[in-house]
Amino acid sequence: MSKNFMANRISGFGTSIFSEISALARQQGAVNLGQGFPDFDGPDFLKLSAQEAIAAGKNQYAQSHGEPELRRSIAEHSKRFYSMEVNPDKEVTVTTGATDALFCAMQAFINPGDEVIVFQPCYDLYVPAIELAGGIPIAVTLHSPDFRFNPIELSAAFSPKTKAIIINTPHNPAGTVFTHQELIMIAELCQEYDVLAITDEVYEHIIFSEAQHRRIATIPGMEHRTLTISSAGKTFSFTGWKVGWAIGAAELQTALRRVHQFTVFATATPFQYASADGLRLGDDYYKELSRDYQSRRDYLLDVLTRVGLHPTKPEGAYFIMANIENFGKNPDEFCRWLIKEIGVAAIPPKTLYVHAKDAVPFVRFTFCKQWATLEAAAERLMKLMG
Ligand SMILES: Cc1ncc(COP(=O)(O)O)c(C=O)c1O
Repeated sequence: MSKNFMANRISGFGTSIFSEISALARQQGAVNLGQGFPDFDGPDFLKLSAQEAIAAGKNQYAQSHGEPELRRSIAEHSKRFYSMEVNPDKEVTVTTGATDALFCAMQAFINPGDEVIVFQPCYDLYVPAIELAGGIPIAVTLHSPDFRFNPIELSAAFSPKTKAIIINTPHNPAGTVFTHQELIMIAELCQEYDVLAITDEVYEHIIFSEAQHRRIATIPGMEHRTLTISSAGKTFSFTGWKVGWAIGAAELQTALRRVHQFTVFATATPFQYASADGLRLGDDYYKELSRDYQSRRDYLLDVLTRVGLHPTKPEGAYFIMANIENFGKNPDEFCRWLIKEIGVAAIPPKTLYVHAKDAVPFVRFTFCKQWATLEAAAERLMKLMG
């Protein structure tokens, strides 16, 4: 018997619930509305753009902080959508997806013992990334059924030990889009306690008619204390390209780039060129993306409502939280049962909470799927009506 080679600091991390549910779904032939990526491709025009970059010899290591073409395009995009002036040389770092940017940010800014506020439920990367940096995650709950925070609880989470707050809007899994008022509240606390805001805005362009996406970086006083993270995966429906970026003041970039050079060093070159073209697509592309996802959202909302799953209406991103209280099972049991008996996969939220005990009796469905997939899921879900 060899000894256990696993490092102590990761011994508490389990296998991601997404892999577990997907494996079970495959085994049982279930329609997978669990895993949050499209089962269709983005625009042909961008595929061609990636192919052309390869043909044109853009195949060696990119600049570590990103190809100038993409950094310029990111700066233009920030000006166009948010009236943000961004210096493409000093204030942008290209990363291997938002994941790399978030992970590097934790290593770059968090010292052992620093507290980092996160809104729970949250994307499953945040807590391990904080902990690997030696930080302590402090949870502020987004309360069901509308998944918004209580300002008193938010304020109580800040302390002299708070180093950073992670803000994910539009939110995965809840679909919450933070209002201007909510962002101002967070911004005031960040300034009062001298805290860094790290945002995760990967769903910035999947936003429905009830809501408007704003960047906390544009609130006066936040320019120098915000790292705005986003990526091309969700906006262009090419999640496998893994092109992301972090926008923020030059001093923040210095720290971030120190880590990034020693993690992945650089991001796939041809996909950077294609992402640069993507960000320059006309307004019609962006409007159609939201409009199209909104009709898929409305379809799935209607199905879930009809079968008694009491969904919360998301304002952005491509997930729906549905209440399973009436089914007399906890979310884990419900999801396994749903795969086996009904043939549809959804995600139980336990691992998306900092404290599993705070998890609510909801499960997450995604609607970033082809109409045929959604219709097949709907047909199966109808069995829940008995
Ligand atoms: C909230 C959130 N942040 C980050 C990511 C990862 O983004 P990327 O694929 O650009 O690394 C995801 C992907 O599902 C996500 O939902």
